[in-house]
Amino acid sequence: MDIMPIRRIDHVRFFVSNAKQAAYFYRTMFGFNVVAYAGLETGVRHEASYVLQQNDIRFVLTAPYKADHPKIDWLVKHGDGVCDIAFEVDDVVRAYSEAVRRGARGAQEPTVLKDDDGEVHIASIHTYGDVVHTFINRDRYRGVFMPGFKEMFIPGEPIGVYEIDHIVGNVELGKMNYWVDFYRSIMGFELLVHFSDDDISTEYSALMSKVVQDGRGKIKLPINEPAEGRRKSQIEEYLEYNSGPGVQHIALLTDDIISTMRHLRARGMQFIYVPQTYYEEVPRRVGTIEEDLRAIAELGILVDRDEEGYLLQTFTKTVQDRPTLFFEIIQRKGSRGFGKGNFKALFEAIEREQAMRGNL
Ligand code: FE2
Repeated sequence: MDIMPIRRIDHVRFFVSNAKQAAYFYRTMFGFNVVAYAGLETGVRHEASYVLQQNDIRFVLTAPYKADHPKIDWLVKHGDGVCDIAFEVDDVVRAYSEAVRRGARGAQEPTVLKDDDGEVHIASIHTYGDVVHTFINRDRYRGVFMPGFKEMFIPGEPIGVYEIDHIVGNVELGKMNYWVDFYRSIMGFELLVHFSDDDISTEYSALMSKVVQDGRGKIKLPINEPAEGRRKSQIEEYLEYNSGPGVQHIALLTDDIISTMRHLRARGMQFIYVPQTYYEEVPRRVGTIEEDLRAIAELGILVDRDEEGYLLQTFTKTVQDRPTLFFEIIQRKGSRGFGKGNFKALFEAIEREQAMRGNL
């Protein structure tokens, strides 16, 4: 039995220092529409929030107005980043009490938010670091997003991403299994894959990763921890600059990665550099693919194949000054994996960036 039936990832909330400018970045770069706003003009006195939407992907960007904001310390500690991965559920009270009964730490007790358009039910629990999971249900709400928000429409030019494929968390050395067990016992997730430090190691550093997914197989949450290596691993660098665990990357699904990448490149998004030598190996390693290999190489797209098919993926550089959060663009052609064959090439590329920051 699915102890925690989750309909979908409802939204991902980012806590940022300037939501107006962050909304501009996500709209012009990734092509999100700005669809709703909350702030002083809508009667919300302590923070401004923008809701951004592209197909099934919804981001909420929230910034505090003043130093007395209850979560101001969060920003000083972590900088701009993901503070909430919110799940839409049938029954918020049930999801919350089930999670807490199984040992989750509550962050917000079940609450009903009301206005003239109806009611929205929310509650939240803590997960790794200072990230929370909000449970939300808006079946009895006709308004935009939730009470406090007003419609605001600023269209973006879409780039073809339509759904969140997975969201990765980085946790401290020795804590990966703790958080895997958390998702299994508290949320009823199951272990999907395990990558050992042999799978994910370079000359300098290593990491370990396990992927958990929800009962319906829709939500995939990989958890990384650093492993012993000769130099500082990319996970250790993250943990240092994020002052602890947090969300490392969000993977966005596209049906046409070449088109998505052309848009992103044209708009100036920076990606992890993939050496041309990587592409000399591709035909031998993955065999024939439908895409034009020249375009793949020109755009710096990585390719991997497993028994079920292949996938194409790319990784942005970090999207804020701190070397913390970044994005993945992924297209699946049958493969349900995570690009294991790319790990070594990818991590060597990430280490080149890390070395440029003086952190390797
Ligand atoms: Fe990923």
